[in-house]
Amino acid sequence: MPVIEPRTISNHNQSKRDVDIVYPTATTATTEGQRLATRGKSNLSFILKKPHDVEFAERPIPELPTPHDVLVAVNYTGICGSDVHYWQHGAIGHFAVKDPMVLGHESAGTVVQVGSAVKFLVPGDRVALEPGYPCRRCDGCLAGRYNLCPDIIFAATPPYDGTLTGFWAAPADFCYKLPEHVSLQQGALIEPLAVAVHIVKQARITPGASVVVMGAGPVGLLCAAVARSFGASKVVSVDIVQTKLGFAKAIGSTHTYLSQRVSAEENAKALVEQCSLGNGADVVIDASGAEASIQASLHVVKVGGTYVQGGMGKSDITFPIMAMCQKEVTARGSFRYGPGDFKLAVELVSNGGVAVEKLITEVVPFEKAEEAFRKAKSGEAVKMLIAGPNEAVNV
Ligand SMILES: NC(=O)c1ccc[n+]([C@@H]2O[C@H](COP(=O)([O-])OP(=O)(O)OC[C@H]3O[C@@H](n4cnc5c(N)ncnc54)[C@H](O)[C@@H]3O)[C@@H](O)[C@H]2O)c1
Ligand SMILES: [Zn+2]
Ligand SMILES: [Zn+2]
Repeated sequence: MPVIEPRTISNHNQSKRDVDIVYPTATTATTEGQRLATRGKSNLSFILKKPHDVEFAERPIPELPTPHDVLVAVNYTGICGSDVHYWQHGAIGHFAVKDPMVLGHESAGTVVQVGSAVKFLVPGDRVALEPGYPCRRCDGCLAGRYNLCPDIIFAATPPYDGTLTGFWAAPADFCYKLPEHVSLQQGALIEPLAVAVHIVKQARITPGASVVVMGAGPVGLLCAAVARSFGASKVVSVDIVQTKLGFAKAIGSTHTYLSQRVSAEENAKALVEQCSLGNGADVVIDASGAEASIQASLHVVKVGGTYVQGGMGKSDITFPIMAMCQKEVTARGSFRYGPGDFKLAVELVSNGGVAVEKLITEVVPFEKAEEAFRKAKSGEAVKMLIAGPNEAVNV
């Protein structure tokens, strides 16, 4: 499978905006096919130039890089904490935005053109986009852990552009068809749900298990919901903000705990008591990245229990190694998603196991993208969705 080259496209190509999408039937990867598939449509993109400096610009519609690719009209994109972080700081760790970069990676869209080798998607199919494309050749990829590929091309991770754009070219096997009764807005939440699926898989939950999830942002809430679908009978969501815990009950947590300004050990003791966890939880997942929460986790987990690090905060923290040793805790990390995670995420939404739509705070038109970022940053929203530039939104 050929490697997909990074997109190197510049800003031009003014075209008509705010038209309702009528999907054509062009099926070939010819230039004429693309012209038909995108005629009159916008490829307006939301671009980060440097921290707090964004612009909207029309970019050329991408060509299909290989016959195995499809062109997708992006309908909805969710804003992720990492997008907000790039917008505010221009970097996450050593990933720094040097050239203008299109933001966004949590998207669903409609296939408008397919390459000649694509067998299982046709124009008009609605898909969730898996936004990281591994090399398929390295040890990690060949071992089936493609999320650990060092050469992965990941949307909105510098230097690669993201999906807050009109049209997105992607390998067909990284586009997941949505069943008819799953909406495109639900489809935009498949990406964070796949993150949660991967985290919860790492926890190896067994039927009847007790699970504590630290953090009730989108990822923590979705971890709680997935843990329930995986058979956990008790799922405790923990946060420092009371309003977040309201969503936890709505999405399937059986208990909530409002973390207090006391030591990690005191919080752990109170949590275990209030939630009747006996000798501790079978599984604790951190989906906050907060040092205090990670410390409490090691005191909440039972002897011989499992701890999964899903949250990403400060890269180095003080970690309670004594608790980890004495309890023989199994600890695992979790990074993005791998084989089967998107497929299962779509299935969980399709069968009603995870009501992702409950997390959608607001859907805004494309030109209000920056406002949506401000709301996402304020913490008052759970998940903001931005409609694609060709999508009409009633406001
Ligand atoms: N592992 C991965 O591949 C992956 C992928 C996406 C996101 N993440 C990480 O997962 C985490 C959650 O993502 P999100 O989008 O839900 O972020 P978020 O910021 O919306 O949620 C974090 C939640 O943790 C809460 N919190 C903060 N301190 C706490 C404490 N001491 N105890 C309990 N809760 C506390 C916050 O109030 C917030 O509700 C982030 O750290 C993010 O970077 C990891
Ligand atoms: Zn994300
Ligand atoms: Zn690889």
